[in-house]
Amino acid sequence: MKGKVVKNQRLNDKYFFLEIKSEEFVTQAHVGQFLMIKPGSQEYTHDPLLRRPLGVADVHDGKFNLVYMVVGKGTKLLSEFHEGGMIEFSAPLGNSFTLLENKRVALVAGGIGIAPVFWLAKTLKNRGCVVDLYYGGRTVDDVVLLEELKENTDHLIVTTDDGSAGIKGFVTLPFKENVETYDMVYACGPKPMLKTVSEICVNAEVPVEVSLDERMACGLGACLGCIIYLREGDEIVQKRCCVEGPVFDGAKIAW
Ligand code: FES
Repeated sequence: MKGKVVKNQRLNDKYFFLEIKSEEFVTQAHVGQFLMIKPGSQEYTHDPLLRRPLGVADVHDGKFNLVYMVVGKGTKLLSEFHEGGMIEFSAPLGNSFTLLENKRVALVAGGIGIAPVFWLAKTLKNRGCVVDLYYGGRTVDDVVLLEELKENTDHLIVTTDDGSAGIKGFVTLPFKENVETYDMVYACGPKPMLKTVSEICVNAEVPVEVSLDERMACGLGACLGCIIYLREGDEIVQKRCCVEGPVFDGAKIAW
């Protein structure tokens, strides 16, 4: 698929916000899905390793949004797109979150894990849920779009490791204090955070879905570069994060 860049805005030293117009993509996308995006010009067309998996951060008015961090060659190229440029990407990939109605839910996001959580918060709020978002980062630069998030949640609890924004400490601490009040928990972020969130939920007997941010090369189930392990009964089975995920039952993952 191809779409036109509407904006590619720098949010701070690390993060960018990309808006792309594509009716075709928007009509197919579900909350929690991701895409593989081609970050640069023609000369990179045949370098699949440069295609980046990015979670869809929002969909509206025939456009969709991505939030990304510049971490290497691929995302650096992506940051150089200007308004009006044509950009190439896959169809929406992977599975999606379970969407509840009129429930009390917690969303836990760490760093760049905010991308799919943004769209999820908005969607659950529109479905009548009470949405509490626990959003953690290392520093103030790792917690972005706070005003927009406030508009789409009932409570926004921000934490940073160094205390430069919100409460000082890990995001799992304030979440743990309230876990028993929720009907469902959703999380996306670094693996240690997802593991802790899942363990807290299992102990409190609250269902939890996590979106895994595995390294992906093909995004299509072919390279097996994104294998994760799930418990099914007494067995441990392999799953491809890009096809069977990225959303999994956090209680079943063999961390
Ligand atoms: Fe290739 Fe998942 S990224 S199988």
